Amino acid sequence: MKPPIEQALEQTHSPQSAASQAQFLHTAKLTTLGEMATGLAHELNQPLNNIKVIAQSVIRNIKKQRALDLPKLHEELDIMIAQINRMSTTIEHLRQFSVQKVQDPPEPTDIHGVIDGALEFIAALLRFEQIDIQKEYAPDLPQVFINRSQMEQVFLNLFHNAKDALLENKVPVKRLVLRTRAVAEHIQVEVEDTGGGIPAPIREKIFQPFFSTKAVDKGTGMGLSASWGIVKSNGGSLTFKVQEGVGTTFLIQLPIKTYNKK
Ligand SMILES: Nc1ncnc2c1ncn2[C@@H]1O[C@H](COP(=O)(O)OP(=O)(O)OP(=O)(O)O)[C@@H](O)[C@H]1O
Ligand SMILES: [Mg+2]
Repeated sequence: MKPPIEQALEQTHSPQSAASQAQFLHTAKLTTLGEMATGLAHELNQPLNNIKVIAQSVIRNIKKQRALDLPKLHEELDIMIAQINRMSTTIEHLRQFSVQKVQDPPEPTDIHGVIDGALEFIAALLRFEQIDIQKEYAPDLPQVFINRSQMEQVFLNLFHNAKDALLENKVPVKRLVLRTRAVAEHIQVEVEDTGGGIPAPIREKIFQPFFSTKAVDKGTGMGLSASWGIVKSNGGSLTFKVQEGVGTTFLIQLPIKTYNKK
């Protein structure tokens, strides 16, 4: 017998039809795109600033009619091109995310690539907020059978929640730990934060749609609900444990082999 909370969640997420499931996934994706935009602003800001600083220094030298140091100029142009390439990669990643169909069939996927892909949209923001990212990836993990873009959303939702907890609670250590391992037929991913932990009275509610403790303009309360549904539809599970007063660890378990949807 499943616990009542699990039963209630399955009822909330049981798709009335393929169309309503598609609608649900589409809404979840739009919510994530909004979150990505915030991260993207930070991600692009740094290289844009670097390019601006270099260009301004070249202009200053031209204005002062200084003889141009050609080898140095060459080096600076190389840096500018590297920064532009970095931005192109990020933008291409966003494009890939937005064109991938929410209902593309699952395929064998490298989970580290998915976690790092999601991280790309928020890493600059985390760095800006001085949040330390610690990766404890198991070597030689087998591929998991999932829809990449859907799972990227899940990780991004979890990262955003961790970031919010770390910033809201003014904790002494701001750390996000990402851990992977293979256990029997599954891959496990842990997303652990030192954000103080989810308070006991709300632990039962966090997966409910529209449950949020955040200001209206900061959270819709759809992140975890959507993530729960997505992980489930990829044949996995999403659970969490709290270390009182220290932080929360979300655990995602995903199937390594082909998953036959019942
Ligand atoms: N890592 C965490 N640490 C502490 N509390 C958390 C954490 N993750 C989730 N929560 C709590 O669970 C609530 C629900 O999370 P959920 O992601 O569903 O919605 P949200 O973050 O409030 O809004 P949205 O994700 O839609 O922008 C949050 O408002 C917060 O109170
Ligand atoms: Mg959230």
